[in-house]
Amino acid sequence: MRFDSPADDNVIDRQRVVGQAVTRIDGPVKVTGQARYAAEWTDQLDNVAHGYLHCATIACGTVNRVDTTAAQNAPGVLAVVTTLDHDPLPLARESAAHLFGGNRIAHYHQAVAVVVAQSFEQARAAASLIEVDYSADDGRFELADELDGAKAIADVVVEGPDAHELHLVGDFWAAFTEAAVSTDAVYTTPYQSHAMIEPHATIASWDADQLTVWTSNQMLNWAKEDLPRALSVPAENVRIHSPFIGGGFGSKLFLRSDVVLAALAAKAAQCPVRLALPRPLIFNNTVNRSATVQRIRLGADLNGQLTAIHHSSTSGNLPGGKPESAILQTKLLYAAPNREIYMRLAELDLPEANAMRAPGEAPGLMALEIAMDEMAERLEMDPVQFRIVNDTQVDPHEPGRQFSERHLVECLQTGAEAFGWSARNLNPGSLRDGKWLIGHGMAAGIRNNVQLPAAARVRLNPDGRVVVETDMTDIGTGSYTILAQTAAEMLGVDIDQVEVSLGDSSFPTSAGSGGQWGANNATAAVYAASMKLRQAVLASLDWPADGADFSHGHVTSRGRSVPLNDCARQGPLIAEDLIEYGDFHKRFQQSTFVAHFIEAAVDAYTGEIRVRRMLAVCEAGRILNPITARSQVIGAMTMGAGAALVEELAVDPHRGFFVNHDLAGYEVAVHADITEQEVIFLDHPDAFSSPMKAKGIGELGLCGVAPAIANAVYNATGVRVRDYPITLEKHLGQLPAI
Ligand code: MOS
Repeated sequence: MRFDSPADDNVIDRQRVVGQAVTRIDGPVKVTGQARYAAEWTDQLDNVAHGYLHCATIACGTVNRVDTTAAQNAPGVLAVVTTLDHDPLPLARESAAHLFGGNRIAHYHQAVAVVVAQSFEQARAAASLIEVDYSADDGRFELADELDGAKAIADVVVEGPDAHELHLVGDFWAAFTEAAVSTDAVYTTPYQSHAMIEPHATIASWDADQLTVWTSNQMLNWAKEDLPRALSVPAENVRIHSPFIGGGFGSKLFLRSDVVLAALAAKAAQCPVRLALPRPLIFNNTVNRSATVQRIRLGADLNGQLTAIHHSSTSGNLPGGKPESAILQTKLLYAAPNREIYMRLAELDLPEANAMRAPGEAPGLMALEIAMDEMAERLEMDPVQFRIVNDTQVDPHEPGRQFSERHLVECLQTGAEAFGWSARNLNPGSLRDGKWLIGHGMAAGIRNNVQLPAAARVRLNPDGRVVVETDMTDIGTGSYTILAQTAAEMLGVDIDQVEVSLGDSSFPTSAGSGGQWGANNATAAVYAASMKLRQAVLASLDWPADGADFSHGHVTSRGRSVPLNDCARQGPLIAEDLIEYGDFHKRFQQSTFVAHFIEAAVDAYTGEIRVRRMLAVCEAGRILNPITARSQVIGAMTMGAGAALVEELAVDPHRGFFVNHDLAGYEVAVHADITEQEVIFLDHPDAFSSPMKAKGIGELGLCGVAPAIANAVYNATGVRVRDYPITLEKHLGQLPAI
């Protein structure tokens, strides 16, 4: 099905199942332990051996020799494969670090060898016996030292069809110099780690030249091209299973060392191998979010109209890596006739920076939305009103492009009303509740909607059950449930009638789970396949192709009605289709919007910060399922609290690695840290997004959370912290006198 004009009224608009608060259909298998994750499929195979990595203890340099003698002779060891045994594997998609092979070490904890043994403990013990002779080079480990040498990025395309890195409109410097009111400050965000619960893990098994892997990967559509390429085997020889994923947050978008090394190890040991990255290796062996140094200059007139916006961001990465696109939101969020927005990238020898949890907007808004708060204060304007005044209905860099739907103002107004914003204290640092200083803050957020082709197969079985098959993944988001809802709606059956099978590379290729594009595209594929299945049902009845209704388990046309069950009595009816997008949508900017409101409390004596109350008001097209959507948003809000207050990878500037590489040292926020979270969804289906009229929501929930907290903390204390995370020592010395 080609989607090349805005969606008309269609079956989904009935919203009998889609849009309803359906509990997660995979909930029971998850809470009873029957949902299996990558490392848990050992019973599918006989004699599964265990792999364990030996990882580099230098950040940068050359491997001269790997002595595996002791490891080879250790109890239970079946094989040892070292990086010197292989040419460098081809770089994985969107990646800068070689996963294995060759004698160069580009980052700390890069894999140097994999040991296979009969037990996990034997593999681990033997891996520790490997001796590596390195020649270490000097490395560049501190972003702050590399800012001057950072390269401006002029023509790298990131995320979306037209996103370039340098954006100039009008004359920023003239407007900024003449502005009645201006702000100019530097904001910094730290290195962060995805810290998903399920580690990167794979079981790999070869049958002659056929490879099967059970792995934890967000994007099977990419992995099924990338894994064969990495291993130099034909694509048809590789089968990938990833039916349940315990979070990824971007770290499982692309191949990681577990999957390629499990495959190489299984080949060498001639038996299936299970390889899970131990938590302490994940932080430096895989990927992270780069720190950023961002400068924002705003100019406004006395009415609070922005006249000039400058946003520049510098991040770091390995040579060949990409920048953290922290400027994306600034292109679209607010009107201003004069604009200068760009990124710079510094080469560093730290582990690779790559996509993490709303890449771009999450750290970009952490800067922009504090700057907006500072400007509102200078203007003596309500920060909600300041944002409303500067709303835009067109892309400020291409004013001919309107937003398909944009209701940020409604988000702001609805949120202000529901939160009780007007009652807040206007005098920072002056509201106390016992020992706590109380503050309120808000921020806006934006995240784009991405359309990607996606396919699905839908089958009506003789017993009347409907089966959906696609290689779409469910990373904990609710894909199973919304795909079942879509098929149930389209075919007019109860959701209990629908089974969904995901995460198998042999199924039709879907959009995968990334960039908050999964829900809309994957359900649109099921919509397309279901439309075809409806035609197959009608054809089986010799009924006309138009004018039929599928409801309550029956198909009805021109006064005749039969149970849907009857239509597949002779054998299953199967339909498969692909949703593809024409380019009409490029004339419109498709984005999602949010307003966040926060109540924070700061201990007047110790500076300790608590988030007491969070409210998000989201506009993201049709909400396919308010329960799973809410779960996405409150999870994202919790991540935002982590970004604001605790999450930071500490760099060892001498040895070049992230020191706090486990979940004891790298703290993340959890729901129990936050007393109250509320989410309100606006109802604005977007006819430009797909027949589902839905858009992404998962990452939107994170966009703007951290600066809203920062602004609330400022309102509580009167101390402005522009360096995340806001840990207590950053404001303790300046808290109001007691
Ligand atoms: Mo997301 S960072 O695209 O998994």
